[in-house]
Amino acid sequence: MNIWKFSVSVLAAVKSVWTRGSPFAAVTALWPTNEEGKYIIQSEGIRLALTNHGAAVTNLWVNNTHGREIDIVLGLDDAEAYQSLQSNPFLNGVIGRYAGYLSNASYTVDGTVYPVTGNAHNATSLFNGGDKSWGRQTWDIAVHIDNSITFVLFDKKWNGFPGIFASCVTHTVTPYEWRIAFGVTPLLKAGPINLSQQAFFNLDGFEVDQTKTKSDNSTVLDHVLKLPVAGMRFDVDDQGIPTGDMKSNREGEEFDFWSTDSTIGERISGSTRGLDTTYVLSHKPLGDKEDEPVAVLSSKLSGVTMELFTDQDALHVQTWNNSLEGLGLKKGQGSGRVSQHAAISLQMQDWPDAVHHPEWRHRKTIWGMDGLYTRFATYKFSVGGR
Ligand SMILES: *[C@@H]1O[C@H](CO)[C@@H](O)[C@H](O)[C@H]1NC(C)=O
Ligand SMILES: *[C@@H]1O[C@H](CO)[C@@H](O)[C@H](O)[C@H]1NC(C)=O
Ligand SMILES: *[C@@H]1O[C@H](CO)[C@@H](O)[C@H](O)[C@H]1NC(C)=O
Ligand SMILES: *[C@@H]1O[C@H](CO)[C@@H](O)[C@H](O)[C@H]1NC(C)=O
Ligand SMILES: *[C@@H]1O[C@H](CO)[C@@H](O)[C@H](O)[C@H]1NC(C)=O
Ligand SMILES: *[C@@H]1O[C@H](CO)[C@@H](O)[C@H](O)[C@H]1NC(C)=O
Repeated sequence: MNIWKFSVSVLAAVKSVWTRGSPFAAVTALWPTNEEGKYIIQSEGIRLALTNHGAAVTNLWVNNTHGREIDIVLGLDDAEAYQSLQSNPFLNGVIGRYAGYLSNASYTVDGTVYPVTGNAHNATSLFNGGDKSWGRQTWDIAVHIDNSITFVLFDKKWNGFPGIFASCVTHTVTPYEWRIAFGVTPLLKAGPINLSQQAFFNLDGFEVDQTKTKSDNSTVLDHVLKLPVAGMRFDVDDQGIPTGDMKSNREGEEFDFWSTDSTIGERISGSTRGLDTTYVLSHKPLGDKEDEPVAVLSSKLSGVTMELFTDQDALHVQTWNNSLEGLGLKKGQGSGRVSQHAAISLQMQDWPDAVHHPEWRHRKTIWGMDGLYTRFATYKFSVGGR
């Protein structure tokens, strides 16, 4: 069988499901880039730049309340420089085929244990998809129009996973909105899937409120974070691996982000730890997941508010913790450094390490050839209370 032809037709189906009718265009990597080697998509009030290395988001511009354009994500100036990044995942890239920890570096389908190539805890677990994770791959571009771009990747048994997985990620912008649609379909063999897109935000575009601080380094400590449906969180062991237990985020206590509007600084004062927790998202039982945001982040300084909507059932919230030593700001962002707490990421994802917790009844963890994994995330922006 011609696997390429087959895959393309599968992806064509995948694609038409997502965009309701838009046919798969041409498979080519020859789409135009800007002078930094990045692909641009734009709509009213929003412009994004992306690179096909890791399918990473490199820049996100909005106008602040003073009408000045700011770039509110961490990234690198030169798209080629992403290829030599050693981090896993890539800065603001896709996390897959299996994000987070896969404990015991293995999973089981129909009684057969499939070992994979571990890259964490002395190779006893797999982290963010392994050393050849999707964030470290160069993706192809299937479609690129003014306001939308689709990256495709064929995972050819990397990181010890059996089976080829075909994956698409589509980024689309509409006025003041950025939508990410994931789609993965297994070819040849079933297996676990868990995708996420990481993006580290600073809604001030890393500008500093000079009336409040003498430092040139911007942080998100004055941003207000609300997680309206995060009433519980996942318990983890001292290695960061989920135990299978959930804990309650009691009103007024340390992990309560659902009942109050407080700044990140107030929440983490007195510790250098920052935020690093996976929350359970308790969507409304019969609600439309597009109805209610799972996170609302805002900054008074820039007047920018960002709401995140997703159909995923967990959210990993993490503040920047110098995980890439020496990372600078981009040219348009000023001369400060990327310091501790400079940015925050809100990773929509599935329940952590669910393949090893059959006691969480009826969670779908393994996708077969007849399965199509799709997930979405939408970021909505508003400025100055508009
Ligand atoms: C910011 O405002 C200017 C002037 O109105 C406009 O040209 C520009 O496109 C806006 N930027 C974004 C990202 O919308
Ligand atoms: C852990 O991995 C080993 C080796 O791959 C396998 O033999 C064993 O069954 C796995 N244990 C569990 C609980 O999955
Ligand atoms: C990893 O393996 C080395 C050598 O076997 C051992 O010294 C070390 O304690 C192990 N580390 C962990 C986290 O298990
Ligand atoms: C923060 O800014 C000050 C000067 O404004 C600088 O000396 C310092 O190194 C910066 N800290 C970090 C962590 O970048
Ligand atoms: C953050 O960084 C500090 C200092 O490097 C480290 O001690 C701490 O464990 C880190 N916290 C997290 C949650 O990674
Ligand atoms: C999915 O990935 C996230 C990291 O992005 C991880 O924290 C979570 O444990 C993963 N979920 C499952 C079901 O493995």
